[in-house]
Amino acid sequence: MDGFASLQKSIERLIRIKCSNYKEDYIKRRILSRMRLTNTTDFEAYHRYLLANPQELDLLKNALTINVTKFFRDPEVFEVIRREILPDLAHRKNSIRIWCAGCASGEEPYSIAILTYELMALHKDVSVTIHATDIDTGVLQKAMAGIYEKKTLENVDERKLRRHFISHEDGTFEVRPHIKSLVKFREHDLMSGAPISRYLDAITCRNVTIYFTEKQKNNLTHLFHSALAADGYYIMGKTEYLAREVEHLFVPYNAMQKILRKAP
Ligand SMILES: C[S@@+](CC[C@H](N)C(=O)[O-])C[C@H]1O[C@@H](n2cnc3c(N)ncnc32)[C@H](O)[C@@H]1O
Repeated sequence: MDGFASLQKSIERLIRIKCSNYKEDYIKRRILSRMRLTNTTDFEAYHRYLLANPQELDLLKNALTINVTKFFRDPEVFEVIRREILPDLAHRKNSIRIWCAGCASGEEPYSIAILTYELMALHKDVSVTIHATDIDTGVLQKAMAGIYEKKTLENVDERKLRRHFISHEDGTFEVRPHIKSLVKFREHDLMSGAPISRYLDAITCRNVTIYFTEKQKNNLTHLFHSALAADGYYIMGKTEYLAREVEHLFVPYNAMQKILRKAP
């Protein structure tokens, strides 16, 4: 077994990330970035370093699951969610269930929670649950704490900031309890093949599958299709797309914003 293969085996055993589900050059690039920072010259040397330094396990896991995100990332998408999708669901359902898959540190599910909370003022009989999941327990802890630096809030207007966040003296902002209570965070591996629930009304999975192999992406598309209720929405990242083999599972709703609906 070569150095890279045996390193991958250790990553799977110790970090529980199945490297073969990700594109190989993506995994290599992420490891190379850790090798530069740990002054290790080849995969064997980095492997030895990883086994001898338990703190490196977390650092490598972070590098493999880059968690970049912010509130209302791609504001146009959230505008369609606010103006069209949530009103449509509130009109048809008493209980709306949304899954934010690959939610990182929580900015995306909290953005949706803010929009649903504001909508619920108009539809008092409608309840909303947002299931937010990620493979990385470190980011989920941050998500549950709900405390953010100002830079991740640049798309949140002053009114929303005052209404839905507590401003702390150290310059951070904490999501208020009325928004936190709408979101349930949970660890979940999108490659496990199991959905967190069924009969969901919308799934957002944005900027997560770019590192998955085509096969994993297609498996996930099937998983989302079976987890959605009839007419459910699937909101992808702006640079993501459906492969030809699975295109028939969804129909475009807003092609520009990468929003699809479950095909009848
Ligand atoms: C770039 S962030 C996307 C955050 C948010 N969806 C957004 O668009 O702003 C990608 C997230 O996907 C998560 N991720 C990667 N592989 C995953 C998997 N197999 N299962 C669940 N989450 C995964 C990472 O941990 C990371 O938090």
